[in-house]
Amino acid sequence: MPAGLIEGIYLFSAILFIAGLKRLQSPVTARTGNQIAALGMLLAVIATLFAQKILTPVEMIGGLAVGGLIGAVMAKRVQMTAMPELVAAFNGFGGLASALVAAAEIVRVVLSREIAAEVPPSAFPYISILVGMVTFSGSLIAFLKLSGKMTGNPVEFPGRYPVLIIGTALIIASIVWIFFGGDLILCLLMLAALAFIFGILIVLPIGGADMPVIVAFLNALSGLAAAATGFVLSNSVLIISGALVGASGMMLTNTMCVAMNRKFWQIMVGGFGGDSQEEGAGKLADGRTIISTTPDDTAIMLSYARKVIIVPGYGLAVAQAQHQVRELADVLQEKGVEVKYAVHPVAGRMPGHMNVLLAEANVPYDSLFEMDEINHEFESTDVVLVIGANDVVNPAARHDRSSPIYGMPILNVDQARAVVFLKRSMRPGYSGVPNLLFFEPNTRMLFGDAKDSVSELITEVKAV
Ligand code: TAP
Repeated sequence: MPAGLIEGIYLFSAILFIAGLKRLQSPVTARTGNQIAALGMLLAVIATLFAQKILTPVEMIGGLAVGGLIGAVMAKRVQMTAMPELVAAFNGFGGLASALVAAAEIVRVVLSREIAAEVPPSAFPYISILVGMVTFSGSLIAFLKLSGKMTGNPVEFPGRYPVLIIGTALIIASIVWIFFGGDLILCLLMLAALAFIFGILIVLPIGGADMPVIVAFLNALSGLAAAATGFVLSNSVLIISGALVGASGMMLTNTMCVAMNRKFWQIMVGGFGGDSQEEGAGKLADGRTIISTTPDDTAIMLSYARKVIIVPGYGLAVAQAQHQVRELADVLQEKGVEVKYAVHPVAGRMPGHMNVLLAEANVPYDSLFEMDEINHEFESTDVVLVIGANDVVNPAARHDRSSPIYGMPILNVDQARAVVFLKRSMRPGYSGVPNLLFFEPNTRMLFGDAKDSVSELITEVKAV
């Protein structure tokens, strides 16, 4: 294939990546955005395989079929709640691939004397190995934490910072040693091993609540590693796609930090958040107690309301109650009740988690409102149904300066005339912070699995 044609295909792929990314801005266009970007990647892969004459056409079709099948099965089988850990695994393998390709290229160039004479020494392969291996091991720990295969709590150990400083010095030393004629294979192995340990040490102390932010950051690193490998191979499409992943990963990391009101350095220091299983009490020291309610009482409140806002959270994803929620909204709307959905930017465990979940149940996009669009409407709302959400409506974020979530913007559900929480127990949300809104006089607690509770609500509302 002529080089000009390859570069043309690469340019077209890059345009498709950018067009795809642009369409990811809205849930309405996100699906086609994903398909456009995937088409760009397919073209880039095929063009590269032809350009490098790596495989015969039969081998190419076989590889694409096997890879496509594995991807399709994974996409079908993965639960929405398991998405962050899947993304962590993808990032990790992306990082490892970049590191391996860069290492192979160094060995090829340096071991072949003629090429070595032509090729000026470059830092890119070493950056690729370093960033790629940090991404690989960091993502491995993120995967283990998110999938519950190891504790989601911060794992802290004494002497972390001295160890990190010594590790950094050794990494620099191993790279310098290569340029001063050290044994290439030994230096590369040392660099890879140190970077691997570095990734583990960085991610271990980070608690479960911060893990999705770290996954976004590792995603950015995997992009940077790929871009560095693109420079090593002089492959323009790898540089462009790596840079796009790096930049969008950094922007996503920043967006999540802003939505959680956390500074990135605070997240990297670690020690915040974990899997809190501690059951909160139903009574406070000052005598305030929670008020439990039943599906039939809640159904009456809902049926006679003029306006209801549904606030979905992580528990909705756990219960997989999205279809029931949609049905409840339909039944209420048939009764003349105005129903809207309020979506907090970090509700759930990954960006857009609630949008994806509700889209699965064909909830109309024009019923979904972002926090800033709907926050002023709670004052004029009769009932707010908080389904499996907790931290994103916790008023401690607004007024309790001592609270770890202080400053995080929240949905102002406490301003509504009545609030009903659908959850299983008094356990706190992911940040482990108790929610005093449970004890307010206009709050009712409807205990049970969200899917069961919403199903009962549908039956009761129909009966009113
Ligand atoms: P959370 O505060 O984690 O609360 C989820 C609630 O769902 C829990 O109180 C839990 O109570 C309930 N629940 C769990 N399973 C349930 C089920 N089967 N049926 C009914 N209820 C169930 O969720 P949120 O309000 O969505 O907040 C998200 C949290 O994750 C925030 O702290 C946010 O900062 C953090 N976070 C999110 C992201 C993104 S990008 N979304 C990224 C990083 C961190 P019970 O156990 O009592 O049922």
